[in-house]
Amino acid sequence: MKHVLSVLAAIVATGAATAMTVRTEAATAPTFAKDVAPIIFEKCATCHRAGEIAPMTLMSYEDARPWAKAIKAKVVSREMPPWGADHENTLKMRNDRSLSEQQIQTIAAWVDAGAPRGNLADMPAAPKFAEGWTYGREPDYVIEMPTEIQIPAEGELSVLNFYMKVPFETDRFAQVVELRPGNRSVVHHASIYFTDLPEGATLDKDGRMILPEGRRNAGRSGEVGLPGSSKLLSFVPGRGVDQHREDIGKRIPAGKYINWQLHYNPTGKPEKDRSRLGIWFNKVPVKHEVLIRQAGDALATTKGGLSLYRAEGKEVEYTAEEGSQQRNRRTPNIPPYVESWSLTGITPVTEDITLYAMSPHMHLRGKSLKWVVTYPDGREQTILNVPKFDFNWQINYELAEPLRIPAGSKIAGVGFYDNSLKNKWNPGPQLEVFWSEQSWDEMYQPFTEYSVDSQDLTKIVPVTQQQQP
Ligand code: HEC
Repeated sequence: MKHVLSVLAAIVATGAATAMTVRTEAATAPTFAKDVAPIIFEKCATCHRAGEIAPMTLMSYEDARPWAKAIKAKVVSREMPPWGADHENTLKMRNDRSLSEQQIQTIAAWVDAGAPRGNLADMPAAPKFAEGWTYGREPDYVIEMPTEIQIPAEGELSVLNFYMKVPFETDRFAQVVELRPGNRSVVHHASIYFTDLPEGATLDKDGRMILPEGRRNAGRSGEVGLPGSSKLLSFVPGRGVDQHREDIGKRIPAGKYINWQLHYNPTGKPEKDRSRLGIWFNKVPVKHEVLIRQAGDALATTKGGLSLYRAEGKEVEYTAEEGSQQRNRRTPNIPPYVESWSLTGITPVTEDITLYAMSPHMHLRGKSLKWVVTYPDGREQTILNVPKFDFNWQINYELAEPLRIPAGSKIAGVGFYDNSLKNKWNPGPQLEVFWSEQSWDEMYQPFTEYSVDSQDLTKIVPVTQQQQP
């Protein structure tokens, strides 16, 4: 590997690829066995192996060779592996799966040299993937979806929602949660929310919501706007475990309903799925609870706090009590054919917090989203920049080091939308775009995961009761 790079460096250094250096390069070209397989095993195998979401496996030379050209194209354009953050304006993430510049060069040089196999003896052992829970050991508690879903062979499915009561009598805290598809080849993405049911709503035997006569559901494709809703976690291929430090936990609120939200991708043959939620309770008393708010909303602990949004310069305000429906109503619609339309939400940080992760959620017109922190002394820091938002990849960016943000700071989520003909995903550039959970409308959800530094749950909750599974 090293000698290949030094040859490449030499070519760059002399500024011209002479016939001789090209020949030298060919002689020492990267091979699949020695140079490419380690990259694929580390960065592609989670998705490109049998039974996973990607359309082909890349686990052996025979599997990968026919894809050589496509592999080069996708890694050079940085479409694969899917990772939306730019490196210059983003803090280090612990789940960064993007390729280094060197890895991209190695793959490109391998393809340019005719994608040679090399010596099989150089091949590293294929990685082992847990068949069971990714987190390793068995969960303390497992919750299954209320019903098994039949997925048709073809067609586009809208997002499905199922509900069930939280099975605990008191609030519990989880250090680790994992959302595990029953059938990974069909689950495109899935999320779990906690929510109240709207007044008068009931559930059928499969956990589908039945609304009282005359009441229309707020959103057909999602229920994030339901009363008292909060997010637990999402699954997308390569991400489904949410793990916190030993004294930090996610609250599983007794009395609420679990909302399973699933997006299936047909595979060409009928499939079934019944996904599961694994819970590992904290083993020591929980001090801090992990909260999720979107940039723009008041912190969870700021009572009556104002939410602040700026749509193309126009201010939009609403209070936490008024809820996201009011925001959707008050935010101006995106006009037809605009290429770059901005919406920024600004959270005033009213007490010291620690930030763990960020996850951009927009729909098909979503163009870019970045998180900018302004500190009390006026210093600005971009902590995550996603310059080309991709609706197909709902990525959670997990900070390698949690970030302390002092009271008096502001967290802004700077979003842009493209409702023009240039956006190939745009389902209707001629339309004025409203705000709702329907995929043809838009959303602005810069999900931000944090805890409040002064909170100490050990002082207010009889935690010992909560620790037993
Ligand atoms: C998180 C899951 C994931 C990872 C990691 C991933 N891929 Fe993919 N890949 C997919 C999915 C899903 C598709 C098909 C849909 C698409 O193109 O977005 C795909 C498509 C591709 C294609 C295009 C196939 C075609 O039909 O033209 C290539 C080539 C590819 N991946 C190569 C790679 C390589 C090389 C890596 C590692 C360096 C990688 N991928 C990492 C999920 C992944």
